[in-house]
Amino acid sequence: MQITSVVNQKGGVGKTALTVGAAAALAERGRRVLLIDLDPQGHATTEMLGLPEASAQAPSLAKALTKTWKGPVEDLVVSHPRSNLGPGGALDVIPTSPGMFDLIRRLDGFRVPGWQLARVIQFANYDHVLIDCPPALDVLTNNALATTHGILVPVQPDRTSIRALRLLNDQLAYVQNAVNRDPIPYFGVVPGLYRRPMSTYASAALVELENFGYPLLSHVPLGVVMNEAAAHGTPVTTFAPETTQAVAFRQIAEVLDGYFASRPAPAPVPIADEFVFEDFITSVARTRNENDNGARKKLYDLMPKKPRA
Ligand SMILES: Nc1ncnc2c1ncn2[C@@H]1O[C@H](COP(=O)(O)OP(=O)(O)OP(=O)(O)O)[C@@H](O)[C@H]1O
Ligand SMILES: [Mg+2]
Repeated sequence: MQITSVVNQKGGVGKTALTVGAAAALAERGRRVLLIDLDPQGHATTEMLGLPEASAQAPSLAKALTKTWKGPVEDLVVSHPRSNLGPGGALDVIPTSPGMFDLIRRLDGFRVPGWQLARVIQFANYDHVLIDCPPALDVLTNNALATTHGILVPVQPDRTSIRALRLLNDQLAYVQNAVNRDPIPYFGVVPGLYRRPMSTYASAALVELENFGYPLLSHVPLGVVMNEAAAHGTPVTTFAPETTQAVAFRQIAEVLDGYFASRPAPAPVPIADEFVFEDFITSVARTRNENDNGARKKLYDLMPKKPRA
């Protein structure tokens, strides 16, 4: 299972659109994908995928993160009903829930804030997990960073994005240190939300972004089709498969799948020899007879016997 966090503390840069687009494109490639809506705003759940948030009574992400509910992760998951899936593929979602805003305060009180999400998804069984992070460097984003294998960072090509990337890098260093984990790699930076043709100003900003040296992935430029797809609660890869945006999400999915394919396989779980009840009984009986010094026979003789009919 490969975990990718879509992160940028700057608001409105296309995190949610990228999470949904890349997740749907992976499912279309036949991957089993879990999208986690970690943003209390819940835009991925309600605005882009047209799903309801978890009800206040049901098991929910907020309850799972705070351990007020401890059931299996499958009970948090809903399947998205309107996405094109490749053979064997799945697009499942852990929707946002009531209590996610309040949760930030409560998680901050935990002794080691950062590992709660990892605990919730540790037994999930997917090829890819994609996490839509909130526009903040808060405890929710830290939870995503603690557990992630890599990050996707959507950016608008303008000067404020350069500063945003520096701040994000400071936060990566902080989390790595706080939870004592390996450096968090960039799976890629995704330029987007600009008008075509690209202005001179935007092109200059893009050169500065390139200088960071992170892989620059396919661009996702502005297109009204993104809003139309969202209005139908459908990923753009399903709603308008031939558009620039859908093609870009497929290329980004291919990059994520490339990292997935090169990931070392998890250590095999040792499989115990098949248990055969008859063999077990025979072996117990043999051991018992071998160890018997006659005392058992004597005990047997003392037992009252029912006369045979
Ligand atoms: N390529 C695009 N073309 C047109 N509109 C887009 C595109 N990508 C995203 N949008 C729209 O722009 C707005 C911001 O995008 P999105 O919600 O993905 O950003 P975000 O970084 O997740 O925002 P937040 O920081 O609030 O979570 C949304 O209304 C979304 O529908
Ligand atoms: Mg968002």
